[in-house]
Amino acid sequence: MNLPELSAHVAREFEKAFGGSPRWIVAAPGRVNVIGEHIDYNDGFVLPMAIEYYAVMAADRPSGGGATQQFHSTAEVVRAVLRLKLNEATLHIRSTAESEAADIDTSKPITTSPLKWSNYPRGVVAGFAARGINPGGLDVLLHSTVPLGSGLSSSAALEVCTATLIEAVTGKKIDPVEKAVLCQKAEHEFAGVPCGIMDQFISVMGRENHLLLLDCRSRKTELVPMRDPSVGLLIANTNVKHELGSGQYARRRAQCEAAAKILGLPSLRDASAAALEKNKGNMDGEVFRRARHVIGEIDRTVQAAEAIRASNWPKTGELMYASHRSLRDDYEVSCAELDALVEIAESIGLSGGVYGCRMTGGGFGGCTVALVKSDSVAAITNKLAAGYKEKTGLDATIFGSRPAAGATVIKG
Ligand code: GLA
Repeated sequence: MNLPELSAHVAREFEKAFGGSPRWIVAAPGRVNVIGEHIDYNDGFVLPMAIEYYAVMAADRPSGGGATQQFHSTAEVVRAVLRLKLNEATLHIRSTAESEAADIDTSKPITTSPLKWSNYPRGVVAGFAARGINPGGLDVLLHSTVPLGSGLSSSAALEVCTATLIEAVTGKKIDPVEKAVLCQKAEHEFAGVPCGIMDQFISVMGRENHLLLLDCRSRKTELVPMRDPSVGLLIANTNVKHELGSGQYARRRAQCEAAAKILGLPSLRDASAAALEKNKGNMDGEVFRRARHVIGEIDRTVQAAEAIRASNWPKTGELMYASHRSLRDDYEVSCAELDALVEIAESIGLSGGVYGCRMTGGGFGGCTVALVKSDSVAAITNKLAAGYKEKTGLDATIFGSRPAAGATVIKG
């Protein structure tokens, strides 16, 4: 479904849920990271693109419960007025994927809720409140096509979608960098995930037919055109998510910080392979390998941006394979299912139309991304699916995406 179709679908869902057509419709994309993995929190370079899968919100002011009502006592009138007042201040979000709706009372300080999915929008509403921006009460219908928990940033899409809705409703647009950072803070403080800045940045700043080279230290961005129709990116979802992921993420961050400290640097961004080698004896073997991944991956990312600019696809593919090996062996965030997909892609090889392939996102499950020849997509998809089934007994979900635009206001 393209974005106009998706938006029409969400408008119809809104009508079913609340009656009437929505006054605002906004969307924010998920992302796939082409290269530069586990680098954003090390202040290095990452190269993600927005994908054609979105969190979409349709919204309107609360209807107030419908037409004429009859009251039989003063108490009933008082209760109705109080309910109306509460509606006026409540962001009521219904999700097509969740049975329970989220109610966020914007007249009070916002806190976390046991309703986990609601904490992403809650954190964003809190971030805007801290800047004195309050959307007031809204009826919201949320529908997302970003596969959940698969390393394609469904949570960043939800955060950025919420932020875009608040901007549209209040007419107060904040600076894009500030917006991405506000959403990242929501994830830190309301979802308890110490993520880097990549996912929120690309969801805000993606551009059609472009990858985004992001310097995570200066936060400067550079668009890298990728419009050659003869190549495309193929995403394969392992459909597994190993639970150790979140604890291991924080552990990797701490190990990188430890390595930087031993090297006397604020972050691994400035570390060189030679300096690391010299300090090998001063650090734990695991910490050494983590740092080796980061130093190599920053270099690969810069090289990949160059190669893509030059339409040098074989070189880009090689860098992707090298990235995967480093994530598997040195950073240890891959898993058997991701490795299986990369091995199958490698066995299809250049003659079968695959330039390169790697795990993408945080790891421990989720997706791989492959750079492929466009005219071989159907054959590669079949081979990947069959090979994965044979190796793991599981079904992969395989789909392509062109680089998409970042968050947009579709209506309002
Ligand atoms: C997750 C985080 C990102 C980034 C990646 C790994 O997606 O949210 O900030 O660290 O993992 O590259």
